[in-house]
Amino acid sequence: MINYYFANFKMNMTFEDIKNYTDSLLKIIDGNKNKVGLFVSHTVLCQTKELLKDTSILVGAQNVHYEEKGAFTGEINASMLKECDADMSLIGHSERRKYYKETNNEINKKIKILMKHNIKVVFCIGETKQDRTLGNARKVLYQQLSNGLLGIYENELENIIIAYEPVWAIGTGETASNKLIEESVCHIKEIIKDLYNNTISEKIRVIYGGSVTPQNIKTLSKIKTIHGFLIGGASLNCNNFAEIINN
Ligand code: 13P
Repeated sequence: MINYYFANFKMNMTFEDIKNYTDSLLKIIDGNKNKVGLFVSHTVLCQTKELLKDTSILVGAQNVHYEEKGAFTGEINASMLKECDADMSLIGHSERRKYYKETNNEINKKIKILMKHNIKVVFCIGETKQDRTLGNARKVLYQQLSNGLLGIYENELENIIIAYEPVWAIGTGETASNKLIEESVCHIKEIIKDLYNNTISEKIRVIYGGSVTPQNIKTLSKIKTIHGFLIGGASLNCNNFAEIINN
């Protein structure tokens, strides 16, 4: 069942922007039963959570450091996310893998520290265009999942959502076809079955991200095996995001 609609604001929204945005969003999606969440910049995390505390909108961070504390200038730890009462954090987004050279091992440590602090995780995975052209997409997903989830207990997977975001579909307008998404979700479930077991594989929640828009949401919503969407560019406009949620 599709019921997760998460917005990744990336490095775009100030608190002033978010106040206006959520004011309108709450009016438009009033009564909607879906799970709606916003991944905001660290600087506005506490304020946004406070602003939305009496609403059903979840608030998440876009990243965390994997150490408890220490000499890591400019970084934010899991206790700091907890202090803001963050509901969740994105981990392993392809922009972090690409621009900040995040490795699967670091991503694994980030997931572990968040589990320890009881913060839910949206764990992003996805292949590049080159991986796909070379026929390596499945192998890459296997590496990302097996290394990222190393040492993560079965019961902790209840607090982890997998976001399948093919890198070539992010911010490009080149949405993956339903067939490709279905195949990839099937691979993801096979991998989870391999790493854990059939029950976990059936229960694991997978959402799709990559050029989701109000124009293609009806088509994408026909996919039976996904649980929702992670939206970047189109989520920056509150009407567009609401249209996607209310589709
Ligand atoms: P776009 O929706 O802009 O393609 O971004 C997707 C994304 O990166 C969400 O995390």
